[in-house]
Amino acid sequence: MSLRKAESHSGLQPSLLPSDVFFFLLILLFLPATTTEADCSFPAIFNFGDSNSDTGGFWAAFPAQRAPFGMTYFKKPAGRASDGRAVIDFLAQALGLPFLSPYLQSIGSNFSHGANFATASSTVLLPSTILFVTGISPFSLAIQLNQMNELRVRVFEMSPQDYLPSKDIFAKALYTFDIGQNDFAYIGIGGDKQFLSQVANQIAWTIKELYNNGGRTFMVFNLAPLGCFPSTLTLLPHNESDLDEYGCLISYNNAVLDYNQLLKETLQQTRSELQNASVIYVDTHSVKLEVFQHPKKYGFIYGTKACCGSGGGSYNYNPQVFCGNSKIINSINVTASACSDPQNYVSWDGVHATEATNKIVIRAILSGSYFDPPFPLSHICNLKPIC
Ligand SMILES: *[C@@H]1O[C@H](CO)[C@@H](O)[C@H](O)[C@H]1NC(C)=O
Ligand SMILES: *[C@@H]1O[C@H](CO)[C@@H](O)[C@H](O)[C@H]1NC(C)=O
Ligand SMILES: *[C@@H]1O[C@H](CO)[C@@H](O)[C@H](O)[C@H]1NC(C)=O
Ligand SMILES: *[C@@H]1O[C@H](CO)[C@@H](O)[C@H](O)[C@H]1NC(C)=O
Repeated sequence: MSLRKAESHSGLQPSLLPSDVFFFLLILLFLPATTTEADCSFPAIFNFGDSNSDTGGFWAAFPAQRAPFGMTYFKKPAGRASDGRAVIDFLAQALGLPFLSPYLQSIGSNFSHGANFATASSTVLLPSTILFVTGISPFSLAIQLNQMNELRVRVFEMSPQDYLPSKDIFAKALYTFDIGQNDFAYIGIGGDKQFLSQVANQIAWTIKELYNNGGRTFMVFNLAPLGCFPSTLTLLPHNESDLDEYGCLISYNNAVLDYNQLLKETLQQTRSELQNASVIYVDTHSVKLEVFQHPKKYGFIYGTKACCGSGGGSYNYNPQVFCGNSKIINSINVTASACSDPQNYVSWDGVHATEATNKIVIRAILSGSYFDPPFPLSHICNLKPIC
């Protein structure tokens, strides 16, 4: 049941009450508590994902990330595939938690409020190739789950450590998933339906494994409208009739919609199999599509043009030279550098969103309107403002 937590606190059906009355009752119930922990019933987040939610895992394992990544918020490369904070960073801040330490980072990490298993280039399914050939990370979802299990085993066998969570955290934590974009990009357009259902099933299987180890609250982010990405628009040959009125690739975006529907149905099935669990499908796709379609409405100037890239034009994306890199092409030194105003761009580097976009996404998510089924996050948690 998605309303499990709210019900167990109040004994009331929230839907029978105007939300402000319900909120008031919750405040009354929580009044005696004074610790910040009582601000939210999620004392930790465990995240599984790819570059969209990596907070430094990939870069802890492989050579360091380069400027201009991190320029807006961290003022230096901080392992995020953006100019600033990722959606997972904003989520942690909203719940009153510190940024998540990457599980792979051995120096300065603190897992007392969760861990981040996400690494850039990760896939849901086991990769059939290696990083140094195609750039696909070896830390696919199954490996990330192994790492989670290892962390849990260590917590149970060790005496309490202040850099590790308490033993009861696994039942109380929020488990988040933001992964699948690389599986999808692999298959490409006209994707193999069977392959896509393997991807969705693997996510569902991972949720069940976590549930068997005590996890109860799961949020799965769907895939972004990849057909609006500067990278997709550059890499896939197309003409005007392949694009919609917003300049996005129609067939590619339709294929993403098909996958998202499949994921949604798979999670419905998972939900029905797991008692007392909240399995929430988070429709970030709708938020991002809206921003790509109406960038100006959200304070942006550019939708399908990358801030950090090279070549200019409609997309400012060169698949041979990624953001922060230089390469000699036809004896010309081509450098992919950042624009001076990332806040005016939806897309940071042609593949990932700017911090400005991520901020819009998190605000929309926290409003509760993009959860399926509805989940009263803002009633369970005294959410901190996003700034
Ligand atoms: C880890 O974070 C917790 C909570 O913020 C803090 O109490 C603890 O001292 C930290 N441990 C280390 C080793 O930094
Ligand atoms: C546009 O490209 C598609 C194939 O991608 C092709 O079927 C169509 O005829 C092309 N239209 C024009 C006007 O060139
Ligand atoms: C579900 O919650 C109820 C009430 O708290 C409890 O009795 C039951 O054992 C739980 N079931 C599972 C599978 O955890
Ligand atoms: C290419 O240009 C970049 C940025 O100006 C510079 O850092 C790099 O050293 C240049 N590379 C070569 C081979 O000249």
